[in-house]
Amino acid sequence: MNGAIFFSGQYGSTAQYADWIGEATSLPVFDVNAANADPSKYDFLILGSSVIIYKLTIRKWVKRNLASIENKPVILFTVSGAPAGSKLDGWIADCLPATLVSQMKHVALRGRMNPEDLSWWVRMILKIGAWKNDDPEAKQQELEGFDFMDKSDIEPIPKLVQQFQSSEASPSQ
Ligand SMILES: Cc1cc2nc3c(=O)[nH]c(=O)nc-3n(C[C@H](O)[C@H](O)[C@H](O)COP(=O)(O)O)c2cc1C
Repeated sequence: MNGAIFFSGQYGSTAQYADWIGEATSLPVFDVNAANADPSKYDFLILGSSVIIYKLTIRKWVKRNLASIENKPVILFTVSGAPAGSKLDGWIADCLPATLVSQMKHVALRGRMNPEDLSWWVRMILKIGAWKNDDPEAKQQELEGFDFMDKSDIEPIPKLVQQFQSSEASPSQ
């Protein structure tokens, strides 16, 4: 059973997690914007997506490639400021087909945001978001940035990959 990692990110943290997962699993890593990012060639998929303004940046690529994604074992890792929980689950449900969400495994990873990497208008959008946000911790993160990158958080993913590979190897399953 061969698999691959397809990721969509903007500021580097999703790419960093994808590379760490690639090292840990020996699976190839593709940016979804690369010409050779073809999920139809693989038996199982690891999809990685950043979350920007409540949306998964991989959503359009998933829609375009749905025929090659659904009905395969899929692990989704999200990279966001928000931790795992109902907010994040709601954004995923809004962005991906329900059939895919019900069959896939999800691992929530937390990313990084450095205000100095952002354009002035993106900083402005975040300031408006912070102004509307009634969670004081999230408000502070939107204004000042954060760095939650942690390589050890990918740990469940190589384990899930092993499960996919061993269930295929075992004739009784
Ligand atoms: C403009 C902007 C909007 C964001 N919106 C959200 C959001 O709605 N929810 C969230 O949890 N994190 C949000 N974040 C945090 C990102 O998910 C986080 O910085 C992530 O690491 C970005 O991934 P990337 O470096 O691969 O682009 C936002 C970050 C930026 C810059």
